[in-house]
Amino acid sequence: MFTVVLLCIACFAYWCRCRQRAKTAEPPSMPGAWPLVGHLPLFFGDGCKIWNQMNNALEQGYKIGGATKIKLGPVTAYVVADPDDCDTIATTCMEKDPIYEFAKPWFGESLFTSSHKIWKNDYKLLNPAFNPIILNTFMGVFNSESRKLVKEFEKHAGKGRFDLFTYLRHNALNIICMTALGVGFTDFNLASDYLHAVKAIINTLVERVVKVWWHSPYTFAWSKLKKKQDAYLKILHEMSNAVIQKRKSEIFGNTCVERNFATGTKFKPFVDILLELSVEKGAFSDEQIREHVDLMLAAGHETTPNALLFTMVLLGSHPDVQEKIFSEMQEVLGGDRDVDKMDLSRLQYLEAVVKESLRLFPIAPLIGRKIERDVKLKNYTLSPGWHRHCIIVICGLHKHPAWGRDRHEFKPERWLEPSKLPSNLVYAPFGVGRRQCIGKTYAMMSMKTTLAHVVRSYRIKADHTKMRLSYGITLKPHNDGHYISIEKRI
Ligand code: HEM
Repeated sequence: MFTVVLLCIACFAYWCRCRQRAKTAEPPSMPGAWPLVGHLPLFFGDGCKIWNQMNNALEQGYKIGGATKIKLGPVTAYVVADPDDCDTIATTCMEKDPIYEFAKPWFGESLFTSSHKIWKNDYKLLNPAFNPIILNTFMGVFNSESRKLVKEFEKHAGKGRFDLFTYLRHNALNIICMTALGVGFTDFNLASDYLHAVKAIINTLVERVVKVWWHSPYTFAWSKLKKKQDAYLKILHEMSNAVIQKRKSEIFGNTCVERNFATGTKFKPFVDILLELSVEKGAFSDEQIREHVDLMLAAGHETTPNALLFTMVLLGSHPDVQEKIFSEMQEVLGGDRDVDKMDLSRLQYLEAVVKESLRLFPIAPLIGRKIERDVKLKNYTLSPGWHRHCIIVICGLHKHPAWGRDRHEFKPERWLEPSKLPSNLVYAPFGVGRRQCIGKTYAMMSMKTTLAHVVRSYRIKADHTKMRLSYGITLKPHNDGHYISIEKRI
């Protein structure tokens, strides 16, 4: 009898140990791995294929306890989708994933790519450039550029689908130059070359992520991909240097300090703060100023156009929602006047639409953090190591079952009842933890103003079920933006 009891205790202890081990083990691999190369063949191809595979990884993560693992040859990427686990990573891992190093030739040690130590210092210095008082002075530019966009759309009214994305990208580039960077560019060719180079360099970055043999800087240095990247970098840096030179000559020539292009009101662009800090406190070298300007140029125009395109496609597919926005606009704005900061807070339904659109189409769907020591999640443990990466799947949070059965549907109304919303851990379009988007309020103000002008001028038609998505650091429409048609409202 005693032996049986002892045996039972031993079995129970063994079972507990196995359970504990399973609990602290690293996440299991996503199915479909090949010997040696792992999931590499699944990810080879265009941004559409990468996006589809990431969604498969996400589904797998949901099924097996919140996380899974992708193997790309020697490279391991943890894919984490559970909201509590993402929060654990966001609050314990402050360094960006080593994959961000690939973007350093472009952004250097600017906020997006820098170490936590540099980020903490620079964020404190630069965050005031995005305070509400400064942002409010940008309203004139947001309005005047939205009006220009509405005018440019005129030739497409009643003429079928057109490439909306190209218009939106040019528009966003103008806006970021005129606001945060304080310069107006009339050179359409320079802007077109810049936009083309951004698209191309992003393709090289994504290609490097998938072609793992170029991960090492030593092998990459010999690749044709690097030569291509260097050529695009030259164009990108020409643009940022041109912006800095133009603003410097305006400041030091006393021709335009602190004026708003559209309204003439007082105005302090981000780049002026950089230049002042470098002159007065020696806070930034010329190279660092260039890196910050490069980031601002890219982040300012690679995000809002995508979000506006997705929102317009959703509006075109949901005429009832579009008409509700229109009615709200009539109520708040009345006639054809400009949108002001007070209007923005009154346009509640429009805000709900933008939030819901960012939920379904998060522009930054995947972000990465460095695992520097064991990180214990609910069901697994992530360990640091050579060629190990950690991806927080923002799009996974946004489609988490906590959103309810209608989580795949476009329902702006859900935002009108804040008490019924799930925990804010399942919504992170602007990132997680402390290293979130510095341009979050700027982006919302600019997008709401553009939508207000477009929706009150045109009726949009689209079919979101026909839209194909592609991953290219940000989430984009596949190929181009031929997804909507417009008709003039009378
Ligand atoms: C819909 C629009 C936007 C979305 C969804 C978005 C999203 C994000 C996300 C998710 C991050 C964090 C990335 C990470 O953790 O690696 C980020 C960082 C950043 N964003 Fe945005 N962004 C948007 C618009 C903008 C705009 C308009 C600007 C500039 C005016 C901007 C400037 C930045 C900068 C500078 C960072 C780096 C911040 C840091 O690490 O401290 N973003 N953004």
